[in-house]
Amino acid sequence: MIAFEYLILFLLVVLLAYLIQFRWKRQRLHDLAKNLPGHDGLSIFESIKLATKISRRDYIPIMSKFIKDDAPITKLWLANYLTILTKDPDFIHKIFNCSKTYNKPKVFYQMFFMDHALTPMGGDDHKRHRRILNKAFTSAVMHNLPEIFNEKAKKIVTKMEEKVGRGEFDLMDYVGALSLESFGKINLNYEIDYFQSEIYYSMKRFVEFCKLKVFVILGIVMKKVNVELAQIFKNFNNFIAKVIDSNKSRNSQENSIVQLLLDPKNHFSNQEIYEELILTTMASFATSTKTLAATLVLLAMHKDKQQKLFDEIDEIYSTESDTKFSNDFLQKFIYLDAVLKESMRIFPAIPIIGREASEEVEIEGYLIPKGTVILISIFAMHRDKKIWGDDADAFKPERFFEELTNPHAFVPFAG
Ligand code: HEM
Repeated sequence: MIAFEYLILFLLVVLLAYLIQFRWKRQRLHDLAKNLPGHDGLSIFESIKLATKISRRDYIPIMSKFIKDDAPITKLWLANYLTILTKDPDFIHKIFNCSKTYNKPKVFYQMFFMDHALTPMGGDDHKRHRRILNKAFTSAVMHNLPEIFNEKAKKIVTKMEEKVGRGEFDLMDYVGALSLESFGKINLNYEIDYFQSEIYYSMKRFVEFCKLKVFVILGIVMKKVNVELAQIFKNFNNFIAKVIDSNKSRNSQENSIVQLLLDPKNHFSNQEIYEELILTTMASFATSTKTLAATLVLLAMHKDKQQKLFDEIDEIYSTESDTKFSNDFLQKFIYLDAVLKESMRIFPAIPIIGREASEEVEIEGYLIPKGTVILISIFAMHRDKKIWGDDADAFKPERFFEELTNPHAFVPFAG
């Protein structure tokens, strides 16, 4: 019995020593944190309560509750994490362009379950992957895309027409098909029939999982214990295996994501190839689908803007003899461009993103300690009345015809 008491005492001493050393190592972080404007601290209980609320639906009230207007940044201790919230365009611009705030905070990006793919990765590995994969996004590659989008859009519109007059239907299914099939053809060199494909169900369910509050914090654990989530990832892997097989037996489109990943000269490991293919498929699917759905709903809600868009389309088609879908042809759709930008301003597909200070760094006069988590609210900046005026919440594509008050205030694609 005495031995047991000694053991407990010993463990307590070790724990205490660890905590003292941990706190001592972070003294500088605590000293600098005192000079940052914001809140002094939430208890562990409050932090957990807040963290469990960081789901898509709740972040608007959370941000407006904590983010202060009188300084470009707001400090908020989330349990052990020194966090700064920001919606300031100039501050955010500096963050995007600073090598010391390049990395993503692991704690917020763990929900992707991946360590070898772009979004959660940091440092030199991230730079290497970007340098190679950027080749898939050059204007020369983009040049060939409008024809593919057009072919896929026609298919989806025909499918949606079957629903006319038959009651409600889920718009996301149709715009999701457009996003995923286009991505498959362009970047995976693989024809996906969304409505027949196993990837359809898995993507949809995965997006549903991401909405669960508890998923955000327990993502990794859930993948191991949740049978359905494990099955979803098995389906992702099976799908990617088929994509890779089919690309081995025929030539991939040059500079497609799959071709860049499979090219032996680029030295990607098998795990990197799988994770990047799953991640880019997800990144493209979730964002394009939400953006397209939001745009269609906004147009449905604003009949006058919808009419203006129809008028533009009618006018261009009535004067154009050659309506081949090229990049040059698309440049003529000025109002459509403004509609899409305004839709991404109002509903940015990724409303909040994170970065981490890998070194102590001074930004806009604030000394940010090493290890600080920086939460950038694209949503709050896109809706800030100080930037966009009193009608910041209104759908008004025309605002993009004028020069923006601050060019850094519109960042739907982040940096
Ligand atoms: C309307 C469409 C889209 C929007 C609004 C959008 C938005 C964004 C944003 C805000 C980020 C930054 C995330 C962060 O830093 O945490 C991001 C990253 C990324 N997006 Fe998109 N995206 C769109 C479409 C796409 C498409 C079609 C693809 C693939 C073909 C794609 C691939 C990626 C990748 C790979 C990353 C990670 C980049 C990195 O970490 O370096 N996105 N996207």
